[in-house]
Amino acid sequence: MINRNKSSLLNIILILIAICGSICLPAPAFSQSNIGIEFKDKGRIVNTLSLSDIAIVAPAVSLKIFEIHEKKEHIYKAYSAKALFDKTFGKDWEKAGEIVFISMDGYQASIPVTKFLSHDAYFAFAHDDGSPFTMTNVLQNNEVVQLGPLYLIWDNIKSKILLEDGASDMPYQVKSIELTEFATRFPNLAPPATASAEVQRGFLHFRKYCMACHMINGEGGNKAPELNYPTSVIEYIKPEYLTRWIENPSSIRYNTLMPGLAQEIPNRAKVTKEIVAYLLAMSTTKRSPKRQDIR
Ligand code: HEC
Repeated sequence: MINRNKSSLLNIILILIAICGSICLPAPAFSQSNIGIEFKDKGRIVNTLSLSDIAIVAPAVSLKIFEIHEKKEHIYKAYSAKALFDKTFGKDWEKAGEIVFISMDGYQASIPVTKFLSHDAYFAFAHDDGSPFTMTNVLQNNEVVQLGPLYLIWDNIKSKILLEDGASDMPYQVKSIELTEFATRFPNLAPPATASAEVQRGFLHFRKYCMACHMINGEGGNKAPELNYPTSVIEYIKPEYLTRWIENPSSIRYNTLMPGLAQEIPNRAKVTKEIVAYLLAMSTTKRSPKRQDIR
C-alpha cells in the first residue's frame, strides 16, 4: 500500500517534470534569428549584429561549394565575409594577423587574415532549398549539428589548396568574430623559441588542425579535452597509439566524435609526426592556465 502510494506520487512528479520540460525550457538560442553576433577587435566589442542587421549591410548570394563535412557539393545562402568585415571592422581588418571565430559548441577556429585575402570566404545563414539549417557531419560520427547563426564556408570548388585544407577552417555555430594577433592572444600555445624547426612546423599544424577543439596550457577550443596541462597526452598515451589516434581515432575508440586528421592533407604522415614532436616539446613547457582562458 505504502509502496503503491509512493510510486503514484513519483509518477505525478515525473509527469510534472515532463510537462515543465516542454513548456518552461527555452528553445535553443541558435534557432533565433535575433541572436547578437559579436564583432571584437583585440578583445573589445566593436559591433553586435543580429542576422537581420547583417542582411541589411551585406547582400546575400547563393553559393555552391564542396561541402567537406558531407563529402559532396551543396548550395548555401551566404554573405561575403570581406563585405561583412569591411562594414563591421572597417578596411583596416586586412592589416590584422588573425581572425578568431568562437562557436556555440566550444569550437574556436583561428585563421590567418592572409587566407581571407587570397581566397573568398562566405558566411552561410541558410540552405538554398530552405530546409532546416542543420547538417549530418560525416567527419563527426554522422552527428546532426546546427549550423546557425553563421557558418564560415569557402568558394572551394575550383581551389585545390582549399580542398586540401579539410574542414578545420569551416566553423559553424559562429557567435563571435575577433580580430587579433596570434602571439598575444595565445601566448601559452607557443613552443620555446629555441625549439627545432620540426617542432615549429608541428606548432603551425596544431594551430591549423587541432586547436579549434583542444586546449594546450588552457588556450584553444573548448570542444575536447585539454592535451597538456597538468598531464600531457605524451605522458599517458603510448607513442604508437598517439600517432594512430591522430590519424584514425575510431580505430581506437568506437563512436568517437574526434575526426581523424583530414585524408586530403598532403604529406599526412609527416604532418602527424611533426604534431607529435610539438606535443612532446609542450610536455616539458607546461604553463598554468589563466582562469579567464577556461571557458
Ligand atoms: C572537431 C574537434 C576535434 C579536432 C579538430 C581534434 N580533436 Fe582530438 N579530440 C576530440 C574529441 C571530441 C576528443 C575526445 C574523444 C573521445 O574521448 O572519444 C578528442 C580526443 C583527443 C585525444 C585523446 C585525449 C584523451 O585524454 O583521451 C588526443 C590525444 C587528441 N584528441 C589529439 C588531437 C590532435 C593532435 C588533433 C589535431 C591533429 C586533434 N585532436 C583534433 C575532438 C577533436
